[in-house]
Order: sequence, then C-alpha cells, then structure tokens
Amino acid sequence: MRQDIVFLTGAGISSESGIPTFRGKDGLWNDERKVYLASSEALYNDTSEFLAFMNDMRQRVFDAAPNAAHAFIADLEKQHQVTVITQNIDDLHERAGSTNVIHLHGELARVCSSDNRHDARYIREMPMNVPIRLGDDAGDGSQLRSHVTLFGEYVSGMQDAAEIVKDADIFVVIGTSLTVHPAAELIRYAHPDVPKFIINPNEVDIASLGYKYILSTATEGVKTLQEELNHINR
Ligand code: APR
Repeated sequence: MRQDIVFLTGAGISSESGIPTFRGKDGLWNDERKVYLASSEALYNDTSEFLAFMNDMRQRVFDAAPNAAHAFIADLEKQHQVTVITQNIDDLHERAGSTNVIHLHGELARVCSSDNRHDARYIREMPMNVPIRLGDDAGDGSQLRSHVTLFGEYVSGMQDAAEIVKDADIFVVIGTSLTVHPAAELIRYAHPDVPKFIINPNEVDIASLGYKYILSTATEGVKTLQEELNHINR
C-alpha cells in the first residue's frame, strides 16, 4: 500500500560517506575555531578564513558519494510518497536519487548573496569543486557565499516541515543528535498513532514519544527498517 513516508535526517546518515558529524568523538564542532567559522560573524569579520573553511566542506562533499542508507530512501520512492527533511547541507540524498528533499539548514551546492541570502535572484547552483573566492560578486555587488544557515542566522521553512511531519503515515529519524532547535522539535509533530522509528547507533532521548529504536548505523539500520515496513504493509 502506498504510504506517505517522511524522513528527518542528520549528519549521521552521511558519516558512512566520509563526511564528519558535528558532535561526538570526531565531531567537527570539537574544534572551537570551526564553530566560529560556521557563523555569520566569521563571514563578515574573517571572510578569507570563512571562505577557506566553506570551500573545504564543499570539496569534501564533492568528493563523497551517497551510501546505502541514502540509496534505500531514494528507492522507497518507487512504492511510496517519500519526503526527506534534512538538516544536512550536503547533496547526497539528491545524488542517491531522492527527488523531494527539504534542506532546513541550506545547501553547500548553492551560493547566494551575502547582503540577503534569501534573495532568489542571486541563489544558484555552483559546482562544489570550484572555490568561492574573496571578491566574487554574488550579482548584487556583495560577496558570494554558500547558501547555508550559519550560526546566528534563523532557520526558515520549519512551518512547512512541521505540516509535512504531521501528515506522515510513517516517520523515520536517522542520524541526528536532536540537539539543535528548531529542527529537533519536528519529532513532536508526528501523529501519535503512526509508526515512528529512530535509527542511531547511540541513544538519544526519544523513547517517551513512542519511537521504535533501531540502535544501529544508518546503512545497517535501514535493513531492519525495511523489515518493519514490510510488516506494516502486509
Ligand atoms: N549512522 C547513523 N547515525 C550516526 C552514525 C551512523 N553511521 N554515526 C553517528 N551517528 C549519529 C550520532 O550518534 C549522532 O546522534 O548521528 C548523530 C550526529 O549528530 P550531530 O553531529 O549533532 O549532527 P546533527 O544532529 O545533524 O546536527 C544538527 O547541528 O550544528 C548544527 O547545522 C548543524 O545540521 C547540523 C545540526
């Protein structure tokens, strides 16, 4: 039976593609300087270092490939209506074949204006192996930048995302520490009576909301998820 399946994904789903998570043992944010460089303050006050940091992340994503978990989610589109709400700024869901992806924190694959990152006239794709250089004009005379949500900037699109989670027949959370708001609040919007799953090799506090825990990595956990979906659709 065709179902509305909604996924909320985080850095953990891309870690098996070689992209580091933000928290945990080798987390990117263990380096305080990197936390600063991911901020709007660094964009304006240390632009060259900010661009070098962003270009390094863009190149790393360019060099990475989707893994079996990204592929599993993309393949589900053959039988179900699938929406991926991701906190990730990589394009691995799209490169795996997912066609309905919402990036709550923006995308490294796109660039925009530093004066107004939401001005659609200046938002465009840019190959991630091409560095953004100091002085590159976004088109409005401002410095070209990545179209990602920096620390200190607000997250847009939450209302739409919440509505999508509310309407889900099945809701699956994969690879997120659920420590960053407002994205983490999405787990509360899923209908109490629909099947809800979380795939993570580490514990995050969610059991009280009726989520079935698959204590596993993403690529292993989606195999268990497939069994659960087969059971639901029987
Ligand atoms: N498979 C699945 N989950 C994994 C794997 C794996 N192989 N490896 C690690 N994880 C889990 C970790 O247990 C952790 O819960 O992925 C999660 C990664 O957590 P974070 O690094 O905090 O990433 P995320 O939750 O996506 O961060 C949210 O924080 O700084 C912001 O904008 C940034 O979008 C990011 C947001």
